[in-house]
Amino acid sequence: MKKPSHHFFVCCSFRASGEPQGVCHKKESPSLLPYLETDLADRGIDAQVTSAGCLKVCDRGPALVVYPEAHWYGNITGPDAIDAILDALESGKECEEYALK
Ligand code: FES
Repeated sequence: MKKPSHHFFVCCSFRASGEPQGVCHKKESPSLLPYLETDLADRGIDAQVTSAGCLKVCDRGPALVVYPEAHWYGNITGPDAIDAILDALESGKECEEYALK
C-alpha cells in the first residue's frame, strides 16, 4: 500500500448516527471536496482527501486538518482559501490566514 504524503480531512459534520448535522455541512463544506481534489492533482501534490466527522471546532467551520503537518484550518469559505492553504503547503508553511490557533 502506498501511503500519501499528505492527508486532508474536511469536516462534513457527520455524527455517530451518520447524519451530517453541524456548522460545516450547513456552510456547504462538502462542496469544497471536488475543488480540493482537483487543485491537489493540478499541483501534483501527493495527497488524499477524506470527508470527516465533526472536528470539534464548529464555531470556526468550515474546518479541515492536514496531516502529517497537523495544520488545522477554519473559515474555509471557498476556493480562495483552498488556494492559500495549498500555496502554503507547497512552501512548507502553515497558512496563517486560516490557521486555527
Ligand atoms: S461541524 Fe465541522 S467542526 Fe464541528
